[in-house]
Amino acid sequence: MAKRSDPIGVFDSGVGGISVLRALVQKMPGENYIYFGDSANAPYGTRTPQEVTDLACAVAEKLAQQGVKALVVACNTSTAVAMEKLKAEHPDITIVGIEPSVGLAAASYPTGRIGVLATPTTIAGRRFMYQAEPYPQARIDLIPAPNLVEIVEAGKYDTEEADAYLGNLLAPYIGKLDALVLGCTHYPFVEKALRRVLGDRVAFFDGSSLTAAETYEKLRSADLLNENGGNVRIENSSADKKLLELSMKLLEE
Ligand code: DGL
Repeated sequence: MAKRSDPIGVFDSGVGGISVLRALVQKMPGENYIYFGDSANAPYGTRTPQEVTDLACAVAEKLAQQGVKALVVACNTSTAVAMEKLKAEHPDITIVGIEPSVGLAAASYPTGRIGVLATPTTIAGRRFMYQAEPYPQARIDLIPAPNLVEIVEAGKYDTEEADAYLGNLLAPYIGKLDALVLGCTHYPFVEKALRRVLGDRVAFFDGSSLTAAETYEKLRSADLLNENGGNVRIENSSADKKLLELSMKLLEE
């Protein structure tokens, strides 16, 4: 039986989900958190759906064994392919996923041009496209970004290398987009580089606040909110200690 003081587990293929952890801590500072970054197996977004599902289920099992009351899948790629299996394997844990926030972007720019930047696996799944259905006049450009996760995992998110990668990938869209959906939890960390490439006119949308709000609502309705905790523990599957340091740095940014 879950207790209020039990931690919330948050996981991603690596350090990207820290962007969601940040939003969760801001919304619910009194909760205890365990963050697990699977950097040893990153990136997930160029793997097959079966591989991603197996990896996500293995991480969820680790967190379940630590007694989490909720599991936030802070990875668009895992949410796109593994959500049903995660829910089936952990029926007693509140599970919340994250999807590219296409609905919010389309509601803000219903006749505009909206880019969706995400990993190749998330884009190929197209699971989030239902969100655009109420806005048939919005033009949605799907933009897979195969190496961007590696740039963030290497801590190079605010560098000339990031600018060069994005400049090349986004060249066909410069001056043409109204909004860009950051459809991978690693991407909020390249926001400065994205601004340098795309300029100030493009609005950015990411799903972290919506995910934090959804987690709050689910815990509230299960009477599982905690106001007396405040611990955050970060774990990583990689033996490279730099990833823990990078995670702490990103959490504080
Ligand atoms: N950060 C994850 C996402 O939101 C996955 C990145 C990856 O490992 O490809 O999609």
